[in-house]
Amino acid sequence: MSETLVRELFIHRFGVDPTVVGVAPGRINLIGEHTDYNDGFVFPAAIDKVTYIAASITDGPSQLFSEQVGEGEGFDSASVVPGKLNSWSKYPAGMAWALREFGQLPNLNVVVTSTVPRSGGVSSSAALEMAFGVVWNKLAHLGLTNVRLAQLGQKCENGFVGVNSGIMDQMASAMGKDGMAMFLDTRSLEIEYAPIPRGLSAVLCDTNKPRALTDSAYNERRSQCEVASSILGVPSLREGTMALLEAMKGELDDVTYRRARHVITEDDRCVAFKQALGASDLPEIGRLMKGSHDSLRDDYEVSCMELDVMAESAQGAPGCVGARMTGAGFGGSCVALVHSDQVDEFVNETLSQYEKRAGRTGAAMTCGFVEGARILGG
Ligand code: GLA
Repeated sequence: MSETLVRELFIHRFGVDPTVVGVAPGRINLIGEHTDYNDGFVFPAAIDKVTYIAASITDGPSQLFSEQVGEGEGFDSASVVPGKLNSWSKYPAGMAWALREFGQLPNLNVVVTSTVPRSGGVSSSAALEMAFGVVWNKLAHLGLTNVRLAQLGQKCENGFVGVNSGIMDQMASAMGKDGMAMFLDTRSLEIEYAPIPRGLSAVLCDTNKPRALTDSAYNERRSQCEVASSILGVPSLREGTMALLEAMKGELDDVTYRRARHVITEDDRCVAFKQALGASDLPEIGRLMKGSHDSLRDDYEVSCMELDVMAESAQGAPGCVGARMTGAGFGGSCVALVHSDQVDEFVNETLSQYEKRAGRTGAAMTCGFVEGARILGG
């Protein structure tokens, strides 16, 4: 899977060389879940599961073909509006809709190929958005920064796709750095890059349970957070504290209280995780990751049987430092930090426990951390 392959696929499909090839990675999140739309802290990394797109300008309409999922609906980049598309084309079309206030946007012939698992909780959609972002940025000479492309990717999700997501996934895909995870303040968009301790590997453990009914449940969680912050009298839960939440407990119903408790404690865990990672404090890393999973399961209620079984199987497997669900939840994947020399034993034991207890076959892969979205070959 490479730049060469996507070029060949393009030539096969359209009979000419593509003008540009762009690439954008998926992401894992080490900790800081469901905090980004609360102005809080997250700790993702761009991973070596990536989406390539090869493109050329056409008189139109935009025509898209994915090696993995086939043809997408065609659309006119200059006029497409929300609510018209159902296929995976809604992500590129949503980017066109968000980008076109910055300049005239040409229609494109495009071939996509990707190693980002779909429905795996590693943000194949953000990878697609950011790959289209860098390609249009180049072909339409928009001159936008990758941070701006990430903001427009979030706008595409919120205003075109209809998911009120935060900015973590697009920032991770746009701003990844080779060998680094990134501690991101989602309010200021400041990034502190940090490696994981030497001798550890990040392992993605996919439950193979596709994420289901995610959008409505996700939007509901976000609304609950907004209700909580307005009752607490803070601009966002970022400004909330456990002391304030406890003082106001009588004013919140049980569900709203628990949603707020997750976000407030998760922000604290994310900050503590940064310290623990810097100090290579492995027991603390493990404790914080478990704390995050438990809080997502019990207070935020975005886990599911498969994610719980995968996290527990991973936590008990040889070489595991810490494990938790990653991404929005309701299916998808767990992330584990594992001693590199024990990855094989870890994977065998985790997957065999998972299969025994969940009655489903999982999959596991190590993830390297890579550069964010960019144009390849000049
Ligand atoms: C999805 C969203 C992100 C973030 C995570 C949960 O991946 O796209 O913005 O909210 O869920 O942390």
